[in-house]
Formats: sequence, structure tokens, C-alpha cells
Amino acid sequence: GAPVEVDISKLEEGQMVRVEWRGKPVWVVRRSDAVLNELGGHDGQLRDPSSAEPQQPEYAQNKFRSVKPEIFLAVGICTHLGCSPTYLPNTFSEQVSGISAGFFCPCHGSKFDMAGRVFAGVPAPLNLVVPPHTFLDDNTILVG
Ligand code: FES
Repeated sequence: GAPVEVDISKLEEGQMVRVEWRGKPVWVVRRSDAVLNELGGHDGQLRDPSSAEPQQPEYAQNKFRSVKPEIFLAVGICTHLGCSPTYLPNTFSEQVSGISAGFFCPCHGSKFDMAGRVFAGVPAPLNLVVPPHTFLDDNTILVG
């Protein structure tokens, strides 16, 4: 499939834009500083907090799993059986106490943080996949 261009100039903090790449949903989220700070606080609850298993390109092998800390991309497909998790920007603490935002898979209850890292004790075996992507300029991302 061809690469897909995403314009993030109007993407506000907390918002997600969805595009399709190779028949898959790809999410682009602008994370707030509060969300970024929260990412450091729950490694002990995650199955693979450092993403040792390679679900991201090399340039996203860092604690934010992204090129720029504030912009997070993920393939929006649960690593369990392929449902699409729901983005919960404000109500994720109902799923994991003390964590404000994340992704919840309604099919069998898998939970992922705002870096797409899976919580322990749910069916999904792996963190969400970060797709290959490049910033063409500050507001334009090429996925693929
Ligand atoms: Fe997401 Fe099963 S497909 S938890």
C-alpha cells in the first residue's frame, strides 16, 4: 500500500485523528504534558514497559515510543484478536485506577497506556504496534 499523509496542524491536545494505511486504522494522538508525565509512573503494571519486543521502528525505541514526545502513532488494532481499542482520553481511570487516559479493548478487556503499552493481566500479549512514519514538516506526517 501507498504511504499516507496526515495533516496534524489542527490536532489539539488530547485529540486523535484516524487514517487508514494498508487497510489498517492508524491513530495519531497529540499527548499533553500531563499525559507524558503520567507515562513514567506505572511501569510496574505493564507487561513490557520498555517495549523490548520490537513493536516499533528504531526511531521510536524510546520511553515515549515516538519521534516527538507529544505526537504518538499506533496501529489501532488490539494485539490479542484484532479488535479496535477505544480511546479513553478522560475516563481511563475507570479501567486502571490513577491513570487518566489510555486505550481499552471492548472485546476482551485489554488495556493499553498512552504509549500503547499493554497492562499486565489482560489477554493482549504485546504492546500496540507503532507504524513506520516520517515527519515531512512540523505538521505533516507520512505513514508508511
Ligand atoms: Fe482486544 Fe481480545 S481483541 S482484548
